[in-house]
Amino acid sequence: MNSQRTVLVTGGGSGIGKEICKRFYNDGYQLVVVSLDAGELDVLHDELLALNTANAQPVHRLALDLTRPDASQRVSDFCDEIHCDIDILINNAGFGLHDKHADLNLDQVNAMLHLNILAVSSLCHLFANRMKHSKPSTPNTIINIGSTSAFQPIPMLAAYAASKAFVVSFTEALAVELKEDGIDVHCVCPGTTKTPFLDVAGLSDNTRFGSTAYIAHKIAMSPKDVANLAFNIVGTKQTTAVPGLVNKLHYQMTHWLPNVMVQPVVNRLFNR
Ligand SMILES: NC(=O)c1ccc[n+]([C@@H]2O[C@H](COP(=O)([O-])OP(=O)(O)OC[C@H]3O[C@@H](n4cnc5c(N)ncnc54)[C@H](OP(=O)(O)O)[C@@H]3O)[C@@H](O)[C@H]2O)c1
Repeated sequence: MNSQRTVLVTGGGSGIGKEICKRFYNDGYQLVVVSLDAGELDVLHDELLALNTANAQPVHRLALDLTRPDASQRVSDFCDEIHCDIDILINNAGFGLHDKHADLNLDQVNAMLHLNILAVSSLCHLFANRMKHSKPSTPNTIINIGSTSAFQPIPMLAAYAASKAFVVSFTEALAVELKEDGIDVHCVCPGTTKTPFLDVAGLSDNTRFGSTAYIAHKIAMSPKDVANLAFNIVGTKQTTAVPGLVNKLHYQMTHWLPNVMVQPVVNRLFNR
């Protein structure tokens, strides 16, 4: 247990982010949690206190829309206000939209791209600079939550998959750039996971056999398993990590098989 260290988690009010908060809190970390819904943050706070009543570490909560232009700076200012140096930044907040791109609501698409891409880039920029100026005894860490959808273009999830391709590519380059500054950078890429994500994306109706929503619900893994991977990757040399056997196979196939073999299968699986 390391009670001195602080982890900042975006999107910690629900799903994978909430499990990440619990995992780190259980290990003695102080938390800074940013999420959209203040009520969800209050529930998280109560659940965390119930987990560790003997030795409760602070849980700082910031309800904030990370798609606001000044949001990342607001997060950094909040850390100053509460006098917190961040040892681990976890960019987890994100959402997807499932439909033909031309049929989606453009404002929603733009908000998704802002959250999945611009907020990740801005927070990495601000906190890499903050981390460079701190002198930690153990390396500082940035973890970005990607997705297996990053590994190939996906019809009906075109903009979402492309946004996660940005996250993986960006994270792998950042890992090299920040090595000499003693900052470890990782990308955790879950496949389908049992969280409200599927409902938000428009994939809640899993009644039609063989549909994308049906398959997604069938193979979905637990958010706890994803959180465990995010926790265990700290201090390792692995940059990109994929939880679960099916997702690992997916990763290997998209990396080692030629695109002319992979893409037609993906198109058939998702374009329905
Ligand atoms: N679940 C999956 O199948 C899956 C698969 C691969 C990758 N991922 C990735 O995993 C990450 C977490 O997703 P999840 O599955 O845990 O979904 P989730 O349960 O819907 O959680 C998303 C979190 O992001 C927050 N959020 C959404 N919009 C925000 C905004 N504008 N500003 C601040 N926070 C915002 C949400 O807050 P509210 O709850 O208040 O809206 C929520 O706490 C995402 O990056 C997602 O792309 C998920």
